[in-house]
Amino acid sequence: MKIDSIRNEYSFSGLRKQNTDDNPFNQFEKWLKEAIDSNEKEPTAMAVATIGTDGFPQSRIVLLKYFNENGFVFFTNYLSGKGRSIESSPAVGLHFFWPLLERQVRISGVAEKTSKKVSEKYFHSRPLESQVGAWASEQSKEIESRDYLEQRFRKFSSEFENEAPSLPPFWGGYNVVPQKIEFWQGRENRLHDRILYKKLSNNEWEKIRLAP
Ligand SMILES: Cc1cc2nc3c(=O)[nH]c(=O)nc-3n(C[C@H](O)[C@H](O)[C@H](O)COP(=O)(O)O)c2cc1C
Repeated sequence: MKIDSIRNEYSFSGLRKQNTDDNPFNQFEKWLKEAIDSNEKEPTAMAVATIGTDGFPQSRIVLLKYFNENGFVFFTNYLSGKGRSIESSPAVGLHFFWPLLERQVRISGVAEKTSKKVSEKYFHSRPLESQVGAWASEQSKEIESRDYLEQRFRKFSSEFENEAPSLPPFWGGYNVVPQKIEFWQGRENRLHDRILYKKLSNNEWEKIRLAP
């Protein structure tokens, strides 16, 4: 298969430092909104990179569910591969790619568990089957077969036939408190725009331009 000639030029837009918001969360909100409006299929999907317990970095896609000045929140199984990695090393990277807009956003920060209240509220907002699925899936564990998984789903479905599923003790959110947020806009001739926000010790954000 020949792939070395696949090459796109990026010319959709540009990013000037003076046109970016001084607050990176406002800038993120603006770009996320534009990604949603542009009909990206999964605008809230982001790669979460963690440092594995074996020392190797690993990333996987999850869905961003909330964000504000306190951080970026996703939900998962705390006993999964990523959950165990975060418990041993809470430094994480988040990475959004919005190809229709020729944009990426990279965030690095420190993950902390959300409160049980936040996890509970989100858990109960999910479709019933997803709540049961969270109970049924021992995420990232080796299992013997598809049948085993479906059996567990049926078992928990009948357990929760007459009562709403409770929040599993092993399931909830992580809030990533950012230290750096970089906005990347593809440009002509690979002379892309990169604006990096760095959090200073006084909690203000410094904004700099990086070479592409
Ligand atoms: C579009 C998309 C959205 C996903 N959203 C989530 C999510 O919000 N939470 C989650 O735990 N896994 C999500 N997954 C599955 C993860 O990518 C991954 O397979 C799973 O969390 C196990 O990863 P781990 O073994 O590294 O913990 C999603 C996958 C895709 C492709």
